[in-house]
Amino acid sequence: MGQVNVLDHPLIQHKLTYIRDYRTGTKAFRELVDEVATLMAFEITRNLPLEEIEVETPVCTAKAYQLAGKKLGIIPILRAGLGMVDGMLNLIPAAKVGHVGLYRDPETLKPVEYYCKLPSDIQERELIVVDPMLATGGSASAALTLLKQKGAVNMKLMCLIAAPEGVEQIKEDHPDVDIYLGALDEKLNDHGYIVPGLGDAGDRLFGTK
Ligand code: URA
Repeated sequence: MGQVNVLDHPLIQHKLTYIRDYRTGTKAFRELVDEVATLMAFEITRNLPLEEIEVETPVCTAKAYQLAGKKLGIIPILRAGLGMVDGMLNLIPAAKVGHVGLYRDPETLKPVEYYCKLPSDIQERELIVVDPMLATGGSASAALTLLKQKGAVNMKLMCLIAAPEGVEQIKEDHPDVDIYLGALDEKLNDHGYIVPGLGDAGDRLFGTK
């Protein structure tokens, strides 16, 4: 069963407070999301395998460690997921970035793919799928399904804030996917917004409304 990890590092929690605040404008919001994405990337990569190597210091030869060549991929779900990519690349600059875009069909209410461009070797990569808000879980679940159809076998889902409903949906549809959150909020309201949440993440990131 996939694990749900709330990353309760004090810096993440502190910055999330300002991200939630309605008075935080677009520039500060974007910068804070970027910083939290970096901090979350630090936590989510905690268990990457290392290999022992030798390094010549100015003093002697030393045993040291380097990442054991695990290939990573970051997959933002469009559009709001884009706001988390640069922050993650700060720490894992060699990661490849794929993009998945989905919209909700107004008649069937089902998510439909409108864009998908992925690294050619996704089956060999550990993928971190990012979307700031895990609300109903509909688009995240559809994105994970799509990625599996394209060959992905090893995925984590990383979100700033989730509603319990979204977490349950992912656990049900994708029990193989671990979830990493900045916060697990109370509920969804009748308009599909996370409560207390932060409002519309895409609009706040890009200054649209
Ligand atoms: N998407 C958002 O941007 N915010 C929510 O609260 C729910 C979904």
